[in-house]
Amino acid sequence: MTEILELYKCNICGNLVEVIQNGQGELICCGKPMEQIKTNNSDMEELNDKHVPVIEKVVDGYTIRIGSTKHPMTEEHHINFIQAISKDNKYIKTKFLSVEEEPELSIKCKCEASLWARALCNIHGLFKKEFEE
Ligand SMILES: [Fe+2]
Repeated sequence: MTEILELYKCNICGNLVEVIQNGQGELICCGKPMEQIKTNNSDMEELNDKHVPVIEKVVDGYTIRIGSTKHPMTEEHHINFIQAISKDNKYIKTKFLSVEEEPELSIKCKCEASLWARALCNIHGLFKKEFEE
């Protein structure tokens, strides 16, 4: 059974999928169950500093940076994507990043609705943060 917005990866071929609508079945790829990618926020300050999204409210929306100490963006170690997700999980903006690109995402909105963000590092996994006023 899956839940909306969960991420799953295939450890054989590298496929990575996001659940758009949940269902009862198990996700299978290359003949094996896919592994759920769980949030990896840790107790290790250094890891959190480089990976937990920093969400800043700006005049016309939000800017999200990964993290409070900028994450590397090299071929070997980089952020795959950043997502900004409304608190009710109804709206998502995803930015897929290229190596050497700044690990940040800007969204324009006038709404008062709050949001949370998450980012996937190719080595250290998934980190998330809710916006706090
Ligand atoms: Fe990393």
